[in-house]
Amino acid sequence: MQCSWKAVFLLALASIAIQYTAIRTFTTKSFHMCPIPNPANCSHGQEPTDSPDRLCDESQSLNSNLSRKTHILILATTRSGSSFVGQLFNQHSDVFYLFEPLYHVQFALLPKMTQNSSPTDRRVMLGASRDLLRSLYDCDLYFMENYIKPQPINHTTDKLFRRGTSKALCSLPVCNALAPNDMYLEEGDCVKKCGSLNMTLAMEACKDHGHVAIKTVRVPEVNDLRALVEDPRLNMKVIQLVRDPRGILASRSETFRDTYRLWRIWRATGRRPFNLDTTQLTTVCEDFLNSISTGFGRPSWLKGRYMLLRYEDLARNPMKKMEEIYNFVGVPLDSSVERWIQNNTRGDQSSAKHKYGTVRNSAATAESWRLTLSYDIVEFTQNTCREVLIQLGYKTVGSSQELRNLSYSLIEDKNFAPFL
Ligand SMILES: *[C@@H]1O[C@H](CO)[C@@H](O)[C@H](O)[C@H]1NC(C)=O
Ligand SMILES: *[C@@H]1O[C@H](CO)[C@@H](O)[C@H](O)[C@H]1NC(C)=O
Ligand SMILES: *[C@@H]1O[C@H](CO)[C@@H](O)[C@H](O)[C@H]1NC(C)=O
Ligand SMILES: *[C@@H]1O[C@H](CO)[C@@H](O)[C@H](O)[C@H]1NC(C)=O
Ligand SMILES: *[C@@H]1O[C@H](CO)[C@@H](O)[C@H](O)[C@H]1NC(C)=O
Ligand SMILES: *[C@@H]1O[C@H](CO)[C@@H](O)[C@H](O)[C@H]1NC(C)=O
Repeated sequence: MQCSWKAVFLLALASIAIQYTAIRTFTTKSFHMCPIPNPANCSHGQEPTDSPDRLCDESQSLNSNLSRKTHILILATTRSGSSFVGQLFNQHSDVFYLFEPLYHVQFALLPKMTQNSSPTDRRVMLGASRDLLRSLYDCDLYFMENYIKPQPINHTTDKLFRRGTSKALCSLPVCNALAPNDMYLEEGDCVKKCGSLNMTLAMEACKDHGHVAIKTVRVPEVNDLRALVEDPRLNMKVIQLVRDPRGILASRSETFRDTYRLWRIWRATGRRPFNLDTTQLTTVCEDFLNSISTGFGRPSWLKGRYMLLRYEDLARNPMKKMEEIYNFVGVPLDSSVERWIQNNTRGDQSSAKHKYGTVRNSAATAESWRLTLSYDIVEFTQNTCREVLIQLGYKTVGSSQELRNLSYSLIEDKNFAPFL
């Protein structure tokens, strides 16, 4: 089944004459992911639907212990708090975490991809993305080399996107530039001191971890993941991170100053530029709406595999949310995650009331857009994204007084229990 799907994908690639290099990559490399079931090698009565490779490994080392790897995907959009959520997994000592590996797919196939890329481009990206995700969950990091430019030589590269964001790639044995007391190097130091990344070591590190977590802002909606969620060789847990679109817009306008220049002009002048690219907003809301419609519809393929997480809830109550997240993925929490949260929200454990004192600060940050966006832009966003705001429990405002009055919260208490 996998193989024929790839054949279709190959045809699609060829038919639209995407880059020659991409085609070459796929024709030479795309079939090694299809494991050939070998019942003779897996004769301990495991479910035949499971990955033969993995079961063989486990049946040799653990006899009947079939504890499975968990494959976590953080499905997000830019400026929705996804780096923070990624850290909740990156800090876990038994999780191998990768930050935006799909960057390489996009960069190799569609370097100029914009919000308006054609549906065909989008499909090609998604097919290749699923392919790469599947390989990475299987710890096949060599497969990613097809997309890294320049292509790694001798399985070594210094071009892995944001390598320093992955703790496992900045600690022993992948990086051996650590001082005796370091557990791992922070992003900047990691890139400076660890030298080129040895993909073989990275792959071994991946295999040594019990679980794999990947964060991406390059998959539009949960429906695009169906093939992975239904793949019996994987044990997918999708955490969909959402945020108030008004907050996303404000944050993007500050961060991507060129791309979102016209929104800032609107805010500064009070006049909406005629050539404003509103798809920068509508795409976010359409993708959210498609995903949550699917999620709220509770299709059987998502059962036990989907959790909706509002960034604002995490900001308001990080410890509690983190426990819910780990409950959902079914991985035991470890103390380094808790320590990291405490350190990064500067939680003070001495008093129950102010247990996570500066969480108030991060909650305030989550709503700080209310002081930076103009009422006009807020009103426009509310009209454009009305349905999403309702579904996700974000209140609209009817005046600029209401907008600026921070003692009136716009976040409804809503409990999005995971679909179990
Ligand atoms: C396992 O499979 C390999 C080929 O995939 C074969 O050479 C080997 O004999 C098999 N082992 C057993 C115990 O059947
Ligand atoms: C199975 O593996 C887990 C973790 O690797 C371990 O804690 C547990 O004791 C094992 N159980 C058996 C029956 O070997
Ligand atoms: C790659 O490895 C081969 C064999 O070890 C070696 O001859 C070659 O010089 C290496 N290439 C680079 C660029 O390091
Ligand atoms: C990468 O690590 C592997 C495994 O330790 C080793 O065999 C290989 O020589 C290393 N590659 C380079 C280029 O150092
Ligand atoms: C807390 O943060 C400080 C400053 O970034 C760092 O030096 C320290 O190692 C951190 N502690 C823990 C337990 O993460
Ligand atoms: C701000 O909101 C609070 C809570 O809704 C309300 O009691 C208060 O009157 C508002 N202040 C202003 C200046 O509108």
